[in-house]
Amino acid sequence: MIGILSSVQSITEVIPEVIAGSAAPLIFLILALIVIWNCKFRSSPPGPSFCMGIGPIVSYIHFLWKGIGKACNYYNDKYGEFVRVWIMGEETLIISRPSAAYNVLKHAGYCSRFGNEFGLQCVGMRENGIIFNNNPDSVKQIRPIFMKALTGSRLQNVTAVSVASTKAYLERLDQVTDNGQVNVLKLARLIVLDINNKLFLRVPLDENEILGKIQNYFDSWQTLLLKPHLFFKFSWLYKKHEENAQELRMSMKNLIMKKRQSIAESEKLEEDTDFATDLIFAQDHGDLTSENVCQCLLEMMIAAPDTMSVSLYFIFMLIAQHPDVQEGLIEEIKTVSGDNEVENSDLPQMKLMESCINEAMRYMPVVDIIMRRAMEDNVIDGHYIKKGTNVILNIKRMNRNEFFPKPNEFSLQNFETAVPNRYFQPFGSGPRACVGKHIAMVMMKVITATLLKKYKLHTLDGRTVDDIKNINNLSQHPEEPQSRLEMIFIARRKANP
Ligand code: HEM
Repeated sequence: MIGILSSVQSITEVIPEVIAGSAAPLIFLILALIVIWNCKFRSSPPGPSFCMGIGPIVSYIHFLWKGIGKACNYYNDKYGEFVRVWIMGEETLIISRPSAAYNVLKHAGYCSRFGNEFGLQCVGMRENGIIFNNNPDSVKQIRPIFMKALTGSRLQNVTAVSVASTKAYLERLDQVTDNGQVNVLKLARLIVLDINNKLFLRVPLDENEILGKIQNYFDSWQTLLLKPHLFFKFSWLYKKHEENAQELRMSMKNLIMKKRQSIAESEKLEEDTDFATDLIFAQDHGDLTSENVCQCLLEMMIAAPDTMSVSLYFIFMLIAQHPDVQEGLIEEIKTVSGDNEVENSDLPQMKLMESCINEAMRYMPVVDIIMRRAMEDNVIDGHYIKKGTNVILNIKRMNRNEFFPKPNEFSLQNFETAVPNRYFQPFGSGPRACVGKHIAMVMMKVITATLLKKYKLHTLDGRTVDDIKNINNLSQHPEEPQSRLEMIFIARRKANP
C-alpha cells in the first residue's frame, strides 16, 4: 500500500511536471497564436512612419500643398487601399477598398465629419447647417427638414421645373457664349441655381451675384478646412475668407427676409410650402435659431451648384467625346419622349441615360472624397480603429475597382450589368448619405435630355476630360480660369420642319 501510495505520490508529483513539460509548448503555441491573431486583428495599416514626428508633419504638409483628393491618391498609390497618415497631428485613414469603405459608410459610428473647428466656425458650418455639422442632436433635427424637401411628393415637380429652367437658359445661350464657344460650367450653374430657387425658396434673386458669392464661399471653405490652428491666430490670414462667408450669409439673410414677406402675403400657405417656409416655421416654433435657418438655406443653395454643375460639365464633355454614346442617347430620348418635353413617366425608361450619368460619375466624380470621423472604437477589415480617428474614403480610386470590366476607361459596358452598392457610391451611403441623391439624378437626366434634344455637343479642338487641369481638394472640379473649357453646341434640325 505504502508502495502504491508512494508510487501514487510520485505520480502526482510527476504529473504537473509531465503536464508542464508537454503542455508548455502547447500553451506557448496558443499564446503565440493569440498574440499573432491579435496583432493581425489590430494591425496598424501601412503608411509613412512616425519617425520622431517627422512623418505626421510631412503627410500634413502634403495635404495642405496638394489638396485632399490629390494627397489621398498619392498615399493610396504608394501604400495600398488602406493607409494611415496624419492630418493636423490626428491619425487619419485613407480607404479606397470598396468593402471597407462600404462598412464605414453604413456604420452609425462614423456619422461625424472632421475639419479645423476654427475654419468651420469662419464659414458658419461649426455645429450649424448640415454638411459639416458634427453635433448629432442638431443633425437629427435638421436632416429631416432637408429630407422632406428632397424626397417624396416634393420631387413631383422637379422634372417640369428642370425642363423649364433648361429651356429658358438655352434660349438665352448668347449670354454664356463667346465666339461660338459656350461656357458650359456657367450655363450649368445658372440652370441649377434657377431650379434650386424655384424648388426651395421662390424669391427673385440676382443669379450672377449669388453664383459669384457661392464660388467664393466654396473656395474659402476648401481653403480653411484643414488649416492648422496657428493660421487662425492671425486674423489678416483668414479675414478675406471670413468676409466671403459673411457676404453669402448676408445675401441669404436678405432672401429669408423677402421670403418672410411673401409668406405674410400668401393666402393659401398650408398647401404650398417649400424648404425655406419649413425653415422659417421651425424658427418661429423655436426649433431652429436664425443662424441655423440662414446656414441651412445657404447649404441648400450651394449643394447643387457646387456638385451638379461640375457633374453636368463632365457628363457633357464625355458625351461629346463619344459620338456613339451621343447618338445612342438621342435615339433613346426620341423613342421615350418623341417631340414632347421630358416628363416624369419617361425617366424610368431612360436606361442608357442613367448608365451614361452613372458612368460619368464613376469615371469623373465631382465628390471624389468623403470625410468622416470614428465616434467609437471599431474594427474595419481587420484594422482596429480608435474613437476619434479621421477617415477619408477615396471615392475616385474606389470607383475604379476590379468589379468593372473597364475600370480605367469611360465605357457604358461598366454599367451593362447591375452594379452592387458596395462597388459604386457616388452619393455616399448610410446615416450621412447625400440627401439630394434622388433629385440630383432627376435633374441630371432632365437637363441632359433637354439639351441633347436641341443641340449636338462638341468639345473644343478634340479636348477631353483627361486633359483638363483639375483641382482635387474638397471636390474634383476644373481649375478656373483655364483656356478651352468651353464647348460648341450645334443646333439639331427638326426631322419634320
Ligand atoms: C452630402 C454627392 C448633389 C445635398 C453628399 C455626400 C456626397 C454627395 C458624396 C457625402 C455623403 C456621405 O458622407 O456619405 C453628391 C453628388 C451630387 C450631389 C455627386 C450631384 C451630382 C446634391 C444636391 C443636393 C445635395 C442636388 C441638394 C439640393 C447634400 C447635403 C449633404 C450631401 C445636404 C450633406 C448630408 C449630411 O451630411 O448629412 N453629397 N451630391 N447634394 N449632399 Fe450631395
